Order: sequence, then structure tokens, then C-alpha cells
Amino acid sequence: MDDLYYGDYIELDTILNSQKPRSFSRMEDGNDEMLFIIIHQAYELWFKQIIFELDRVRNIFERGHINDNSDDMSNAARKLKRIVKILELVNQQVGVLETMTALDFLEFRNYLLPASGFQSKQFRLIEAKLGLKMEERHKKEYYKTTRRGSLSEADAQEVSRAESESALKGLIVSWLARMPFFDEGYWADYVSTSGASAGKFWSDYRKAYEASLSDGERGRLAEFDRAFFSEGRGDLSPEAMQSALFITLYRDLPIFQMPFELLNTLSEIDELLSNWRYRHFSMVRRMIGIRAGTGGTSGAGYLEGTLSQHYIFRELTELATFLIERSKLPELPKALREKVSFQV
Ligand code: HEM
Repeated sequence: MDDLYYGDYIELDTILNSQKPRSFSRMEDGNDEMLFIIIHQAYELWFKQIIFELDRVRNIFERGHINDNSDDMSNAARKLKRIVKILELVNQQVGVLETMTALDFLEFRNYLLPASGFQSKQFRLIEAKLGLKMEERHKKEYYKTTRRGSLSEADAQEVSRAESESALKGLIVSWLARMPFFDEGYWADYVSTSGASAGKFWSDYRKAYEASLSDGERGRLAEFDRAFFSEGRGDLSPEAMQSALFITLYRDLPIFQMPFELLNTLSEIDELLSNWRYRHFSMVRRMIGIRAGTGGTSGAGYLEGTLSQHYIFRELTELATFLIERSKLPELPKALREKVSFQV
């Protein structure tokens, strides 16, 4: 039997024969369209790996039993960290494309019409699998229409299907909401400093939070009450908000280190996606100014809007709003320290 050959194993011929610049009459006379194609292909390959990792993390959380003994938590955290590293890498790639100038781009821009990264199905799948919903999108009228430059019918359907499956955000919210930290049994030997007999931890924490607010920020207390005791915040129920804050506050306890790592990594992913959006947006301004995009949106204006509107884990990142100094934290009762594990 023939030995496996490197080029066959990674299907190199297929990959290396997949660059077909439309503006070249002869390869030797080529312009920057080759770079433009290769950059997009490199992005799409990395998007594929991100989707693969995301699906594996979603599978872990979909099982409903995150168990510290089975390494589930550290596996999920490791895969999400890998996504962070890939996003850091693809953010750097913008700099390579920026070695092309606006005039260089004009040499072949008309050959692309009406194609655009807007039609990147994989980018939409990443957003959907993380938890960005269609109705939360900036300028949602651009999506899923049959206008020129939008997703094909088949791609739009695939994105819709991904949106109807459980997104990572929803799975994380359910996982947080299931945590049993506030079962009264754990708090039986806890003496409340605010004199509460039930919900002792939150009563004490609320008092400490109130004391930490400056005069100008008094309104935050009502926001705190809404987020943690009545409505929740965004997609997070009050129970999920309580668990997320609790993990963040007591992240130094061994049992909370991994869950904290996980929540923190989700914020990092959001931050890196937003860095990408910013770099892409400012590159677009340099390349085409304020002209409309090849995909038919308003161009830089549209992209600027996505920057602030397409955060996915906003509630987790904004938990910092509700923190108090570490030295003011209530000491946890022994029963809770001893009993709580990841088995929720
Ligand atoms: C010369 C370089 C580039 C220009 C001028 C450019 C321009 C644009 C414009 C104007 C849009 C808005 C849609 C439209 O009307 O066309 C867009 C969207 C997009 N582009 Fe690019 N782009 C460039 C490079 C890239 C690269 C290298 C990628 C990597 C995959 C990329 C991925 C995307 C994605 C994913 C969107 C959709 C963003 C969203 O809707 O949130 N673009 N691009």
C-alpha cells in the first residue's frame, strides 16, 4: 500500500487550485485580488474551526449535567479558549489586507459585485450558535431577503435552522439558573448582618452594594433589584444573574475557578468579535470611504451600527456594574463551601 502523502492528506491540490481572481487576464499581470481571495479563504477556514469547537461546547452543555468528575467543565473552557486564540489570530489578519490601498482595491472591486462578506454563511452561523438572534440585529431588514447581495435561499435556511437550535448563550443561562447555591439549607448557619431570616445572602449583599454607590448612582439600586430579584437582565433570569454574580464574586474558591474562567472567556469572545467588527469597519472606511458596500448595505455606516448592537454576552460583561469590593463580601457558610460542586 502506498504511504500517505502530505498533499493528499490535507487535500492541498483542491485548496491551492481554489483561487480564481476574476480581474486577472494573466496571473503574471495580477493585482491584489489574489490577496483579497486568500484572506477571505483563510478567514472561512478559521470560521469552520470555530463552528466545530462551538458545536462541541454546545453538546457538552446540552447534556444538562455538567460534571466536574468528567472534565466537562475544563473541556468546555479549553475549547472556548481555543476560539479566543483563533479570533486573536484573525483579528491580526486585517493588518495584512490593509497593506492593500483604496486605489489597489478599485482595480478589481467591480468584479465582485454584488458579492460581499455579508453573505458569509459561516459568520452568520457563528453569531447564531453563540446566541445572536435575528430580531436583535442592526438593520434586520438587510437579512433574509431576496435582494441582491443578501444570503442565498439555502444559506438563509441554514442560518434559520441554527437559530432555532439551542445557542450557547441559552445553554449557559440554563446552566446558571440550575445552580443550587441559594437553597436555604446551605444558609442555615449563616448569620445575616442585615437581620434577614430568608434570602440572607442577597439581603446583606444588597445593603453592601447600596453603601458602595455614590450619590449620583443611587438609581442603580433599582436596576440591581430588577436584575436580581424581579425581571432579570436581557436573556438572563434573576436566578441566572444571581449565579453569574456569585461565581464572579467568589471566583477564588476552587469550585468556582473553572465556571468563572468559562464566563470570563465568553466575555472575551464578545470583546474579540467586537474588535474584529471595529477593525473591519475602519478598514472599510479606508478602502471605500462612505460608499455603499458591494453587498448593498450603506457600507461603513451599517458596519458601525453592528459594533454596538451585536454584543452577545453583554449581560455577563456588564456584571461588573454590580460588584462590591472583595473586603466587603459576606463570608460564605461552611455548609455551602463543603457541599457545592459542579454537579448541578
Ligand atoms: C477590502 C476589504 C473589505 C471591504 C472593503 C469590505 C467591505 C464590507 C462591507 C461594505 C460590508 C457591509 C456589507 C456590504 O454592503 O457589502 C462588509 C460586510 C462583511 N464583511 Fe467585509 N470587507 C472587506 C474585507 C473583509 C474580510 C477580509 C472579511 C473576512 C471574512 C470580511 C467579512 C465580512 C463580514 C463577515 C461581513 C458582514 C458583517 C456584519 O453584517 O456584521 N470582509 N464588508
